[in-house]
Amino acid sequence: MQHPADVRCDQPTRRAAVPVVRLEHIHKVYHLGEVDVHALRGISLEVYPGEFVAVMGASGSGKSTLLNIIGCLDRPTRGKYFLDGQDVSGLSKDERADIRNRKIGFVFQGYNLLRRTSALENVQLPLLYNGTPTAEAIRRAQRALAIVGLQERAHSFPNQLSGGEQQRVAIARALVNNPSLMLADEPTGNLDSRTSIDIMSVFQQLNAERGMTILLVTHEMDIAQYAKRIVIVRDGRIVRDEPVKNRRDAAKELAEMPPLEEEEEAVI
Ligand SMILES: Nc1ncnc2c1ncn2[C@@H]1O[C@H](COP(=O)(O)OP(=O)(O)O)[C@@H](O)[C@H]1O
Ligand SMILES: [Mg+2]
Repeated sequence: MQHPADVRCDQPTRRAAVPVVRLEHIHKVYHLGEVDVHALRGISLEVYPGEFVAVMGASGSGKSTLLNIIGCLDRPTRGKYFLDGQDVSGLSKDERADIRNRKIGFVFQGYNLLRRTSALENVQLPLLYNGTPTAEAIRRAQRALAIVGLQERAHSFPNQLSGGEQQRVAIARALVNNPSLMLADEPTGNLDSRTSIDIMSVFQQLNAERGMTILLVTHEMDIAQYAKRIVIVRDGRIVRDEPVKNRRDAAKELAEMPPLEEEEEAVI
């Protein structure tokens, strides 16, 4: 297997930079009664600032377990994890919650928005936990909503928004703390194909224009091809790690699609 650092000659400063994520021989074993489930079996991985990585693999291959460890929601049974150069493998639950709030933005398949809470308030939530003054929190939440193109919907509730809009709110919430790393677990899993491309255009834009480092889990090759690098996991191990060839451009694809009305008529 070729190491990605050896093939990415477009980023000459890469070796000098501190990786956002550095995993060394990570193992995760879940104890289920009498049974041990060995979900990760020695994962080593480095992700550098500005990368956009898709982690792919079949259901049960360990993708979510890996993402949860990288996101400090869980910790490895064995192995070392350095986040922005800091060893976080041995941190307590509270310490992990603190570092997660400062450094990680999470996007989930099911959006995970609070239902009786406006888009603006949902986006402010991570700022409530770290004591940001209200006026500042509102200002930053508005800016995050503007980045995902939803400034007009700040006062809408989740049930007044489409699935794609709800996922944009979730991305704004993940952005609001200006994290080192954005993590997304099957973010298009609940969306139709056009809306999926739309959401991928948001991730591509964040990566290209703001240099956001993104690690996204998907089981669909179509979606992985919007990333710059694909890591394939099988049975808790990385079996492939390579740059994306023929990378897809979501904004371009959307621009070339017929308007929605025409498409609907065509279906009828
Ligand atoms: N909390 C848990 N307790 C016990 N086993 C788990 C838990 N989470 C995941 N597993 C097991 O670990 C393996 C990897 O699961 P997961 O990381 O969810 O895979 P994926 O996201 O690729 O579908 C599976 O065998 C799964 O059943
Ligand atoms: Mg999963």
